[in-house]
Amino acid sequence: MSEPVTMDKIVSLSRRRGFVFPSSEIYGGMGSTYDYGHYGVLMKNNIRQRWFEAMVRNRDDIVAIDSAVILHPKVWEASGHVGGFSDPLIDCRTCKLRFRADKLEDSNCGLKPSKRPGQTPECDLTEPRQFNLMFETTVGALQEEGSRAFLRPETAQGIFINFKNVLQIARRKPPFGIAQTGKSFRNEITPGNFLFRVREFEQMEMEFFVPPDEADKWYRYWIDERLNWYRRYGLRDSNLRVREHGPEERSHYSQGTSDIEYDYPIGWGELEGIANRGDFDLTQHTEHSTTKLEYVGQDGERYVPYVIEPAVSIERIMVAMLVDAYDEEIVGDRERTVLRLHPLIAPVTAAVLPLIGKNDEMVAKARGLYEDLRRRHSVEYDDGGAIGRRYRRQDEIGTPWAFTVDEQTLEDDTVTVRDRDSLAQERLPIASVRDWIEAALERDWKSPKES
Ligand code: GAP
Repeated sequence: MSEPVTMDKIVSLSRRRGFVFPSSEIYGGMGSTYDYGHYGVLMKNNIRQRWFEAMVRNRDDIVAIDSAVILHPKVWEASGHVGGFSDPLIDCRTCKLRFRADKLEDSNCGLKPSKRPGQTPECDLTEPRQFNLMFETTVGALQEEGSRAFLRPETAQGIFINFKNVLQIARRKPPFGIAQTGKSFRNEITPGNFLFRVREFEQMEMEFFVPPDEADKWYRYWIDERLNWYRRYGLRDSNLRVREHGPEERSHYSQGTSDIEYDYPIGWGELEGIANRGDFDLTQHTEHSTTKLEYVGQDGERYVPYVIEPAVSIERIMVAMLVDAYDEEIVGDRERTVLRLHPLIAPVTAAVLPLIGKNDEMVAKARGLYEDLRRRHSVEYDDGGAIGRRYRRQDEIGTPWAFTVDEQTLEDDTVTVRDRDSLAQERLPIASVRDWIEAALERDWKSPKES
């Protein structure tokens, strides 16, 4: 691929092919807010499923939970979010724009965008003020004292407040984990870069409760596990790195944090964070709720477990995977755009195409195959237009395999399968297509872009 992948190319493809739309467009749009179209939903589902398999289904030591978005307001006092989840903000009285005080060097003046805020004589900046990032709401009919609540800014707290339930009902003993996926909300001051920083996003978090003296071992373990998950699902090694936070950078709860970073078109940025939260959360909730959140063994051993937390959003993964997969190349004398996504991430697993869309026999065979495959997989049927164009449509959404029904199918019940990346074609009996797909999905996969 000759040119670098830009965020603009990803945004444009996402929109053109219905992965992601700017939200509320008919009302003039709502900045940095997005709606997911059909292929975006399918891809998000796949990312969530792969995460859930790795974190819950394929393990004996992690269980799932799905807590409420609006929790008791005291949860956020105990967690430190009411007091401390804020960014320092500066307003400009002249241009009326608002900037993050700690990011002034990355911001542009509202009057002269080539300058930084404060660099022109007209700039009239306020002193920094703390701005809490939680969205507030009121619960019930009356806006009165005690009705104030928050949309959760992380899913993690819904896990901590259920620690005792899981310990008792699921009869768990550290080390064990609780995993949750769901929407989180933050009133980000400087959202942007497509889905990278948005105000509502779907988090996938897992809190792993361990004996305190094992915390460092598990912290390292989860960094490796998560890094390997990204490699398994096709992100190239050269675009991934682990960066350990310095003490001044860590959140209030953290005893150690590492980011798995991805080399986005905007530069290296946080994809996922892995934190050693120590006993901060369970201790805080014990103090604020007066319910003791600790582990008590049958032999009387008791302690407050430490927590290791891998936390990520589907949005950050989606951008990284789209960027990593995006390719443009000349095939024959035609240009094609192709998403070289891992087959278990691609929104559509296979396309079924009759070579001639007006041939009733071919259509009947192709529809039969399509009906059979769709019971197990995400499959698309397409009989509209020239076959080359139909292949290109599938390439653009990352469909790894296209099965074509042609004249020979009518004679011997075989079809061709075309590979999205190599463009190689092979023939196989129509009756074996299902098994062929199952076997292909089982195989290890490596990005063809990896040199
Ligand atoms: N429970 C810990 C926690 O929430 P965080 O570093 O604030 O830690 C965890 O967020 C992950 O959530 C990040 O690594 C990133 O993947 C994702 N994330 C955070 N803010 C986001 C935003 N505004 N838009 C998209 N994803 C976000």
